[in-house]
Amino acid sequence: MTLPAPASTTSDSAARPDVPTVGFRLSGIGAALPETVVTNHDLTTTIDTSDEWIRDRTGIGQRFVGGTTAGLATEAAAQAMKRAEVGAEEIDQLLLATTSPDFICPGTAPAVAARLGLDCGALDIQAACSGWVYGLIMANGLLLQGQKKVLVVGAETLDRITDYSARDTGILFGNGAGAAVVEADPNGPGELLGWDMGADGNYVDILYAEHGGHLQMNGKEVFRQAVRAIERSAVAAMARAGLGASDIDLVIPHQANINIIESAWKRVGFTMEQTGMRLEEIGNTSAASIPLVLDDMLDSGRIQPGANVMFLGFGAGMTWATAIIRWSGEIRP
Ligand code: COA
Repeated sequence: MTLPAPASTTSDSAARPDVPTVGFRLSGIGAALPETVVTNHDLTTTIDTSDEWIRDRTGIGQRFVGGTTAGLATEAAAQAMKRAEVGAEEIDQLLLATTSPDFICPGTAPAVAARLGLDCGALDIQAACSGWVYGLIMANGLLLQGQKKVLVVGAETLDRITDYSARDTGILFGNGAGAAVVEADPNGPGELLGWDMGADGNYVDILYAEHGGHLQMNGKEVFRQAVRAIERSAVAAMARAGLGASDIDLVIPHQANINIIESAWKRVGFTMEQTGMRLEEIGNTSAASIPLVLDDMLDSGRIQPGANVMFLGFGAGMTWATAIIRWSGEIRP
């Protein structure tokens, strides 16, 4: 492969000299959910709970279960590639964010690459619910290195590590996958305007799963730390982009708990009108949640060319990651 000239800078990025760019365009988005739905009512047969309590404390109404991580990832990625009108031979790299891989070893990405017919590097990213946003930011780095098209997928089968008789974790998690084709577009208006990635391993023990075990969680502490991580990451990414809260047209946060989002939004200055949510329908799908919402936002026409779109992930680790994009990617009629 012939490497292109070093990254160019557009007039916008010239105002932010620390942010080189080769353009950044999400040219196709795909999504996949398994067929089986588990409603809050269904859970009352195994958990001492109620639909009203779960909705009030989390905002979740149902979740999907079943499938494999590679299967869901492949379905979402194939749809994203079709919408981007990109062939398998054009993909330079597959980044697959998952916290529920099909095997401990090997990673799930090589199997997905094989099913899609890709001939490129393929690796898993394990950054829990922040993983897809980590992948998006890393894709920008690969574009700067000369790659042209990077497939960034978030896929989860959390039903394999969730105890659906547990009152805390059993009400939250479900399966799904979302994918984006990320393209260099040196002459286009699309750009990664700002980003932030972080981690604090002092909080490993508030949300974890051991080999062969189920997710264990200190819900109150996760809530507290998530609100702090969101504020810190959103503010850092907006500072890097030179934007304020009112400059963001759409924020898609990780879909964990509506009360976490509302608490964090009060600190950052976002409104729910600016916010893309799909939590009631899909529950917490970890690394898959943000691209699953993105797919829905495109379906409902919530994203227009030139919009400033923020993706905000946070989760176990603790990890967090924020990306702000000037949108020039897929638009659906
Ligand atoms: N259904 C009904 N009642 C429940 C319940 C359930 N599933 N779980 C707990 N309760 C009851 C408790 O018995 C307690 O009752 P009491 O006040 O009469 O003693 C009350 O509800 C509060 O229990 P508590 O354990 O303190 O719940 P909480 O307010 O911390 O809410 C979570 C629990 C899990 C909803 C909440 O902690 C949470 O969402 N945290 C964040 C988790 C998260 O988002 N994780 C993923 C991050 S990526």
